[in-house]
Amino acid sequence: MQVLVYCSKHFCAEKMHAVTLILLLTLVPLVYSNKYENIPDYALKLEERIEKHGYPVEIHQIITEDGYILGAYRIPHGVKKEEPENRNKSAVLIVHGMGGAPHNFLVLGKERAAPYYFADRGIDVWLFAARASETPFKKHIELDWDKDPEFWAHSFHEIGIYDVAATIDYILNCTGQEKVTLIGHSAGGTEFYVLLADRPEYNQKVKVTIGWGAAPILHRMDYPVMLLGIYLDDFIKFLFSLFARHEVLPGFIADTKSSMIDYYLQRHPLWYNVLKFSLAGIGSHNSILARYDEYNPIIISNIPRMSGRQLLHFLDNVKTGTFKKYDYGPKGNLKRYGQKEPPHYNISAITAPAAFFNSGLDGEISLADVCESIRRLPNPMFLHRIPFHRFTHTDYIFGYNATELVYEPTLQLIRKIDNGVVFPRVKVPSDY
Ligand SMILES: *[C@@H]1O[C@H](CO)[C@@H](O)[C@H](O)[C@H]1NC(C)=O
Ligand SMILES: *[C@@H]1O[C@H](CO)[C@@H](O)[C@H](O)[C@H]1NC(C)=O
Ligand SMILES: *[C@@H]1O[C@H](CO)[C@@H](O)[C@H](O)[C@H]1NC(C)=O
Ligand SMILES: *[C@@H]1O[C@H](CO)[C@@H](O)[C@H](O)[C@H]1NC(C)=O
Repeated sequence: MQVLVYCSKHFCAEKMHAVTLILLLTLVPLVYSNKYENIPDYALKLEERIEKHGYPVEIHQIITEDGYILGAYRIPHGVKKEEPENRNKSAVLIVHGMGGAPHNFLVLGKERAAPYYFADRGIDVWLFAARASETPFKKHIELDWDKDPEFWAHSFHEIGIYDVAATIDYILNCTGQEKVTLIGHSAGGTEFYVLLADRPEYNQKVKVTIGWGAAPILHRMDYPVMLLGIYLDDFIKFLFSLFARHEVLPGFIADTKSSMIDYYLQRHPLWYNVLKFSLAGIGSHNSILARYDEYNPIIISNIPRMSGRQLLHFLDNVKTGTFKKYDYGPKGNLKRYGQKEPPHYNISAITAPAAFFNSGLDGEISLADVCESIRRLPNPMFLHRIPFHRFTHTDYIFGYNATELVYEPTLQLIRKIDNGVVFPRVKVPSDY
């Protein structure tokens, strides 16, 4: 019942009964049964979509230390190729969040979506694809993702210390740059904060970390879906233990390539709306999600390829207000970490300059958590508060005005850093 004491500015969780939410998620779609049919481009692969938007794309294959075969998508230049070609471009890696995919960053379309916006302005853009996400390879040198539960035995910890690390090394080697700029949306940020805390030598390879609705501390979250998750975490653990594969969704639902989800999405508007409103449950007022129905299937068709452990690790950090490693239970922890409690990540070791974007209506990453992170990090140098009161957590990627409100100031920041501007330590805002 711990969840019931969480209270937020925007609504009081005390009043939010889990049952009401479940009913809403099930009943609202019944009322709202608009059809999803013949959505153009729904089935396009990521590279096909990028090409259709008129941009060049390269797919790179990367093998991690623990044997996962990942993909990374590169947009080396904008619609127009620069003449003469600049071979010394600033490289930016954009990291998607939990249950996310690089696809999502393209939803705003040409010129307006973040990767295009940056590529058109001379940035060498790389899109990260975590193990088991939408990577075109989704393979392991030994494990079979469809059969071996070990394939799914990872949380954002492994994604950080292996996948993000391998992708950074790959980019540096491929581009000849000394450092890369990291942009993380939501848990994408968590992944690179984990890497920089756990393998501090990677701080030398990072120009700046930019958190879009991301911070190492995640204590004061008030997302309805997350609160529900915290409330039901033991039940969720039990559910996951039933699926041998330990995926959040059983494979036949999660796999967009399977005929099953296509079948449901195309023939059963009800099912489509259940998914859609689950998405709305993670917060979107201003966003394209709310306005442009045709984007929903694209987003939905790319959700959860993710391990259950990722969700549990996240919920545990939120619930305990800490930034610590995965909890294997007292016995498992003793075996793995030599102590009964999972160790905390060393926030003091994240020495790379850290920048934060925050919105007042972001129910996942509150200003309070960003401020606590700023106090505890060695080198926080930038905080941008989005001057639009209805900007929510998913609006960083789906919000129609993200281009002006987020990507433009992000680009200005990247350019200043590339030009050698040194920022002083950022102060915690006085009104907080
Ligand atoms: C590449 O750009 C960086 C700064 O953006 C500069 O420090 C470096 O000297 C440049 N390297 C070459 C080979 O031009
Ligand atoms: C670095 O890149 C070169 C080609 O540019 C490649 O031959 C080499 O294997 C790469 N090294 C690593 C460690 O990826
Ligand atoms: C945490 O990181 C700081 C800075 O690198 C280091 O001085 C300190 O010893 C580390 N603490 C632990 C517990 O590893
Ligand atoms: C959002 O974008 C639209 C279309 O580009 C523009 O008219 C509007 O002024 C923008 N609003 C904000 C708050 O930036």
